[in-house]
Amino acid sequence: MAAPEVTSSVTPPAPGWAKPFPRAERIFPWLVGGSVLLMTAFVIGWLYLGGQNVPTDSHATTPAAFSAEVATFAKRYGGPGGRVYVPPGTDAYMLAIRYSWYPEIVLQSGTRYRIWLSSGDALHGFSLVGGGQNLNLEVEPNHAMGAWITVGKPGRYLIVCNEYCGLGHQHMKGHIVVVSPEVMRTRLQALALPKAGGSSSSTSGGAAPGALQLRVLGNTLAFDKKTLAARAGKVTITLVNPSPIPHDVAIKGSGVDVKGAIVTAGGRSTVTAVLKPGTYVVYCSVPGHAEAGMRATLTVKQ
Ligand code: CUA
Repeated sequence: MAAPEVTSSVTPPAPGWAKPFPRAERIFPWLVGGSVLLMTAFVIGWLYLGGQNVPTDSHATTPAAFSAEVATFAKRYGGPGGRVYVPPGTDAYMLAIRYSWYPEIVLQSGTRYRIWLSSGDALHGFSLVGGGQNLNLEVEPNHAMGAWITVGKPGRYLIVCNEYCGLGHQHMKGHIVVVSPEVMRTRLQALALPKAGGSSSSTSGGAAPGALQLRVLGNTLAFDKKTLAARAGKVTITLVNPSPIPHDVAIKGSGVDVKGAIVTAGGRSTVTAVLKPGTYVVYCSVPGHAEAGMRATLTVKQ
């Protein structure tokens, strides 16, 4: 009996069908393997040879702990205009919080500094414009990152936020000032001298004529009042800031443009001006804060 005929749409190949791969196909796996090795070496080597200053130091923190460190640092080395003069060899601290970089630090030119960065709220991006730096860092809450930077040329360099962090993101700017060693020395010597004149920051209560009080509402970007009223003459406004977010109080209008010191964590910022009758804007001058609602209207009457 004959075997049943097997039918198939595919004819089995004849023996000897398997030919060696063509040369191009034999080289290909070696090319792929080689480029994997090359790219791996590149990624590691670039860290050391590519002129990058990737943050290499980091530790866990909390917004409250980091704000306290920043406040201590700002108080210790704070100079005129709220700028913080960082002695060479000292770490600098900078807090990103909607929508500001605090404080404005002053570095000595050509000197290597470690700047600790952290965020008090959302994810922000730290980008230093100019200064020959190649820095684009993510700044997140609960992480402090130490980035090393050396800026050669004196100047005022812009810091922008390059991570969308909320409605005021585009206002989120800061500055790093770089000064010559001579300027730094002079400033540090001046800072080392005992501060002249008693600060009036501890005076409380006493509603003197023309003395107005404002308070920051918790950790928000708002004052406790939207309107203020005063009589013409000398007007003093004291802002109490219980939050870790840096704020100041400023008055603007009718040729008046004055600002108080930037304070955090229970600090008081005071501003004084002689005002004529009219309407003035009282606001926080930390970039982005007035735009976010930190402002009130001051009406001055005869
Ligand atoms: Cu901070 Cu965008």
